[in-house]
Amino acid sequence: MPSSVERIYYRALRRATVALNSGKPLNQVLDTIVRSVARAMQAGASLVLLDASQKNLVHCTSRALPKAYLQKGIVDARRSLAEVIIDQPVAIKDVSKDSRVQYSDVAAKAGIVSILGVPLRIAGKVAGSIRVYARQQTVFTVQDIAFVTSMSNLAAAAIEQDALRQQTQVPVSETAPLKQALSVAFAHHSEEEFARILDFYHIEWVYEPRAFPLSQDGDRVTEMFTPDFYLPGLDLYVELTTLRQKLVTQKNRKLRRLRELFPEIKITLLYKKDFDRLLARYGYGPLAQARGRGVRQVLYSAAEIQKRVREMAEQISQDYAERQPIMVGVLRGVFCFMADLVRQMTIPLEVDFMAISHYGAGASVKITRDIDLDVAGRHVIMVEDIIDTGMTLNYMLAHIKAKNPASLTVCALLDKRVRRLVELPLQYVGFEVPDEFVVGYGLDYREEYRNLPFIGSLNAAESRGQKSP
Ligand code: IMP
Ligand code: MG
Repeated sequence: MPSSVERIYYRALRRATVALNSGKPLNQVLDTIVRSVARAMQAGASLVLLDASQKNLVHCTSRALPKAYLQKGIVDARRSLAEVIIDQPVAIKDVSKDSRVQYSDVAAKAGIVSILGVPLRIAGKVAGSIRVYARQQTVFTVQDIAFVTSMSNLAAAAIEQDALRQQTQVPVSETAPLKQALSVAFAHHSEEEFARILDFYHIEWVYEPRAFPLSQDGDRVTEMFTPDFYLPGLDLYVELTTLRQKLVTQKNRKLRRLRELFPEIKITLLYKKDFDRLLARYGYGPLAQARGRGVRQVLYSAAEIQKRVREMAEQISQDYAERQPIMVGVLRGVFCFMADLVRQMTIPLEVDFMAISHYGAGASVKITRDIDLDVAGRHVIMVEDIIDTGMTLNYMLAHIKAKNPASLTVCALLDKRVRRLVELPLQYVGFEVPDEFVVGYGLDYREEYRNLPFIGSLNAAESRGQKSP
């Protein structure tokens, strides 16, 4: 006769295998597996996966764990039950006395006493872990560990099966399984849209991973702030605000407080209008319907542009004397700038172009035209019309870097610095432009205005005080 524990574990395994074979979406299958672990062990449970950096663990799904515990922050795989990452189960009897737990205070406050972590292996490599959080002191038995390991194997099989079903080109072991497994319940539609834009540019994100306590009354936290996104690759939190002005003021206050209390945290606030402009650029969102009605104001005249371009050309010619750089222009906005820039340069150089797809054209940014020249061992200068969020450039630079140039710098005619999301060093900048949508001298609004000899801002396209399309 099997013992009652065996019967319970058997039932949980049966539920998990049924889920695995149900054809349901991955997140639901993982949810069932984690729920079954929690129920069988009468404890909290979670499934965490490594992000693309392979450094952090992100909660995919969990059961019976307080929100405060889930939002305790980014979990460092090397500081939290570290042996799991080298493929060993870890059983911790007393969380408060064990240095292997990264957030032991938070765990203790959440009533967690013992933790079990087992590796989750995909194609033979540790990709994450299933964890069990007990509220009573528990000595996990060999049988417990074997059970959770089996559940973890089923979860891994579900992730692999899903990758196959989606016909991923790259085997799942080489990508982050996290993306497939994470199915986030966004609080607001714009957050989902923003996540998709980040996905498009291959910028990794985690939704609301950490709640920051802002004020406390003794031991009780009276005010919290949970930024919408964390971008691990950039070590940056992003708060998207789609709220009315009154609430924005409130949010700004919270943000100031956060910066005071956690000076090491990098956080950016993205306003509704910034976000709408970002979407409008690609023909989406509320501003996209509005048509630009001509140029409102000339920002840089043809003569001013020529003067600045000449200065830049002289500077680059000086810096790159003897190095015969390859100037790589990003189509199509750069064509005027590139043509003028290289004609003012006085050193031998080569010219090439690349083009990329824009958001909305597909799920992921693509190089639609790659460079023809071989840049390995050469000095490359990326030439861009305008850097806004920096997401495009970030992707391009990674693409060129992979071709092993001897050096790589950036020359941008315009720098809309106030809107930067991805910080990148720009070695040569023509003008720092204000936060307005600009056209002319190659830059377009929906393919119009490229032929203007000057750079200008567009007329207010809407009556409600929106300044740009
Ligand atoms: P980023 O990826 O946000 O830095 O966007 C860079 C690209 O968006 C540029 O290469 C332009 O094609 C486009 N873009 C950004 N801002 C403007 C603008 O004000 N006018 C025209 N195009 C822009
Ligand atoms: Mg461009």
